[in-house]
Amino acid sequence: MSDYRSHVLVCNGTGCASSHGVVVVDKLKSELERQNLSNEILVVPTGCHGMCEMGPIVVVYPEGTFYCRVKPDDIPNLVEEHLLKGHPVESLMYKDREGQSIPNYKKIPFYGKQHRVALQNCGYINPADIEEYIARDGYEGLAKALGEMTPQAVIDEVKKSGLRGRGGGGFPTGVKWGFCASSPGPKKYVICNADEGDPGAFMDRSILEGDPHAVIEGMAIGAYAMGADEGYIYCRAEYPLAIRRLRQAISQAEESGLLGENIFNSGFNFAVHVKEGAGAFVCGEETALMASIEGQRGMPRPRPPFPAISGLWAKPSNINNVETWANVPQILHKGGDWYASMGTDKSKGTKVFALTGKVKHTGLVEVPMGIPLREIIYDIGGGILDDPSGAPKEFKAVQIGGPSGGCLTKDHLDVPITYESLPALGAIMGSGGLVVMDEENCMVDIARFFLEFTQRESCGKCTPCREGTKQMLLLLEKICGGHGEMKDIDLLEELGLMVKEMSLCGLGQTAPNPVLTTLRYFRDEYEAHIRDHKCPAGSCQALLSYSIVQNACKKCGLCAKNCPVHCIPGGRAEGYAIITERCIKCGTCFTKCPFGAIAKG
Ligand SMILES: Cc1cc2nc3c(=O)[nH]c(=O)nc-3n(C[C@H](O)[C@H](O)[C@H](O)COP(=O)(O)O)c2cc1C
Ligand code: SF4
Ligand code: SF4
Ligand code: FES
Repeated sequence: MSDYRSHVLVCNGTGCASSHGVVVVDKLKSELERQNLSNEILVVPTGCHGMCEMGPIVVVYPEGTFYCRVKPDDIPNLVEEHLLKGHPVESLMYKDREGQSIPNYKKIPFYGKQHRVALQNCGYINPADIEEYIARDGYEGLAKALGEMTPQAVIDEVKKSGLRGRGGGGFPTGVKWGFCASSPGPKKYVICNADEGDPGAFMDRSILEGDPHAVIEGMAIGAYAMGADEGYIYCRAEYPLAIRRLRQAISQAEESGLLGENIFNSGFNFAVHVKEGAGAFVCGEETALMASIEGQRGMPRPRPPFPAISGLWAKPSNINNVETWANVPQILHKGGDWYASMGTDKSKGTKVFALTGKVKHTGLVEVPMGIPLREIIYDIGGGILDDPSGAPKEFKAVQIGGPSGGCLTKDHLDVPITYESLPALGAIMGSGGLVVMDEENCMVDIARFFLEFTQRESCGKCTPCREGTKQMLLLLEKICGGHGEMKDIDLLEELGLMVKEMSLCGLGQTAPNPVLTTLRYFRDEYEAHIRDHKCPAGSCQALLSYSIVQNACKKCGLCAKNCPVHCIPGGRAEGYAIITERCIKCGTCFTKCPFGAIAKG
């Protein structure tokens, strides 16, 4: 760092790259060259900062000035003003709710309550350069493990940290490692689950793109502890940048003697391979994933035997999630006690969430375990997104844990998020998807949406999941379509409990969660669809009708002009009315009326 007077970090994660982040890097480099500044200022392409919707993000160090939505055309001015004259460019800074510019990264509310451990290097280092990882204490944990610790001592340190699997189940990582370590046999495998099949989730992708060495180092430490000499990273093919970064990092680590034979002269050998998955949700299930690596169809099998006894190619194997592996190097480097000092009694450390839906700031956030949902949604996410007209909206629910998770309500906003609190409410931590909903989201439709996903992704091996989810989906479609009967509610509940109980793998065992939680907390919405033929959120098309509120109508005629099927006759004198029978429920009149005079119900 010291050779340059300034470092300009430009996010080149998938989000920012898709909004011209790569062009910003090129433009910055050419502009610096033109101004003869290339020897003084270093441009560093980085991974994701989490605030992808504000991308491309550019951070100038040593000041830490945070710029967002930087366009290639902004670069000449930024170089001239900030990097030449030392005047930060206010127009490119992040603005708070009152429109005040916040120049420094650390002062932006989105980052205020975050605590970055798994994401500590994302957005900070160039993931394509192993030297930058090493400069941030990278491979120190591995050096300590190999140089100073027995494999058992490594397992004990991970147990002490209290780290639990971040892929969904939350099983204690050190305990799982202990099972594999004590399993007999000269050949063992470690596996990284980078399938990330949950729609909307991108935690693992961002870690792989932004800090691939953390995952590789974590796997090497685990392999040493468990006696494995080979590892596989199973990553979905839809993540080309993550795969490229991983392959790059593996060859750099090999060239530096940090992977391969006799690492650090310790006699420990470890090789890592990347296996591309075709993107089926069920392939994230551990036994299906291993079948897929072996070249078979990705279908789960009953457990036992557990992978620790008979896993990949029937050898003892240990599988962990990307985020789980990424925490390991720091646990070794800083100690299990350090990690255990964060979070709650039984849920230690931090968790990365993908915050999406109706919040002002969506993105990737890493927070200490035990934080209440309210702080994530309001303090970090900035609260509920306003209506396009600027009218404030109300929080209604949050779906936590992706398609296997559940919907929680405003009564749960202050519950600390832990591995224990969520199942008690019918939800699960899952891999960290958080979808926030407002009053315009219909909870029956949300349940239908998630069940449609799991039903489509069911591998079909066992009947309860294959047939049960199909029947549940038909019932939900019937209710959303306005043809539901009261007895369907009981049937849905009965089927949901049966599918949960009897399915072979986690996909079927958790698929009913969105339905069961919405039935538990929003049963009145199901009843309104069936009894009153109304969708209270105004979202289910079949149950919608539009009408003009006459005393609010200013007779401007905009609705009539824009209606694609011309079903709003009238004029200034007589006023306007919608012919319900001809209305195709497209909602154009509702969005076009400048006076809020169209009622939806
Ligand atoms: C249908 C299904 C999909 C899953 N998808 C993933 C996934 O994408 N990533 C992941 O790490 N774990 C996933 N899991 C959980 C894994 O089977 C396994 O428990 C996890 O990789 C173990 O790692 P951990 O202990 O570090 O969490 C999935 C489970 C099921 C049942
Ligand atoms: S529960 Fe569903 S996904 Fe799992 S094995 Fe059975 S059919 Fe396949
Ligand atoms: S757009 Fe609104 S205000 Fe204008 S005529 Fe239609 S309902 Fe009335
Ligand atoms: S990709 Fe740039 S902030 Fe996420």
